[in-house]
Amino acid sequence: MSKPSILVTRAVFPETIARLEQHFEVEHNQADARWDKAELCRRIAGKVGAFTTGGDRIDADVLAAAPQLRICANMAVGYNNFDVAAMTARRVLGTNTPDVLTETTADFGFALVMAIARRVTESEHYLRAGQWDRWSFDMFSGSDIHGATLGILGMGRIGQGIARRGAHGFGMNVIYHNRSRLSADKEAECKARYVSKEELLRDADHLVLVLPYSPESHHAIGEKELAQMKPTATLVNVARGGIVDDAALAKALRERRIAGAGLDVFEGEPKVHPDLLTVPNVVLTPHIASATVPTRRAMAELAADNLIGFLVHGKPVNPLNPE
Ligand code: DGY
Repeated sequence: MSKPSILVTRAVFPETIARLEQHFEVEHNQADARWDKAELCRRIAGKVGAFTTGGDRIDADVLAAAPQLRICANMAVGYNNFDVAAMTARRVLGTNTPDVLTETTADFGFALVMAIARRVTESEHYLRAGQWDRWSFDMFSGSDIHGATLGILGMGRIGQGIARRGAHGFGMNVIYHNRSRLSADKEAECKARYVSKEELLRDADHLVLVLPYSPESHHAIGEKELAQMKPTATLVNVARGGIVDDAALAKALRERRIAGAGLDVFEGEPKVHPDLLTVPNVVLTPHIASATVPTRRAMAELAADNLIGFLVHGKPVNPLNPE
């Protein structure tokens, strides 16, 4: 009996492909070519499953090109690349990879907090450019992390990981805002206090965004919100592009209305707003918050578990919608 056909849209660990090949006919993009929508539609036609990444938009057009498709397994915890309503209407299951990347992403969120507060990349560029010729009392003075107020917008698993690091590792005063308040136990574990969004913006010395992207969170941080922050505050986004209005942020950074920002995600990435590239007080990284070798392996394995679990055993691990 022939094996069901699946598509792997981007390069991934050879071990993951080998595992998938035990169960499926696998078409994979091991060259990691950039496929446009027409190419994705062409490749996905006739497949019953797809191993996707956050850059693959799965919408009504793609679904129409693949009438046999039953599952898209995202190698990411975020799944705003899925049109979940369109998938549900076509009875296509979506899955994601929660939990396995929580601590790694929280580490990186904290790395950005530290890098921007202590001006790590800005001062490195200065040194590499050969500009360092003497010690100076105020050279690259930043702001403290220990004892400062850490604000977290979006208190899911990753937000809680960042809160624990701040409270237990650096003695920070942690405040958060979220759609729903955490249980008293969880708040105690994170040593975090629930506040309104206004208080969060007003009081945070370092504000970290960890909320999922949705039409409701689009530009949750724009000109108005940036104006409510302290001029000494820093902003970190390890969530999704589009949550921050990048043009408004670049303007606020240039005008020093906030002290700095650390961004791992961008509106329309991999394009980056040109104004962000020209301001010095921002640390920019190419969506790598979950990028450690063990975590990326675990994400790939979990995406494969979802495909095999659903298509072979009828039981996915991380279903997002009813199939
Ligand atoms: C995720 O898992 O959502 C990360 O952003 C990696 O894509």
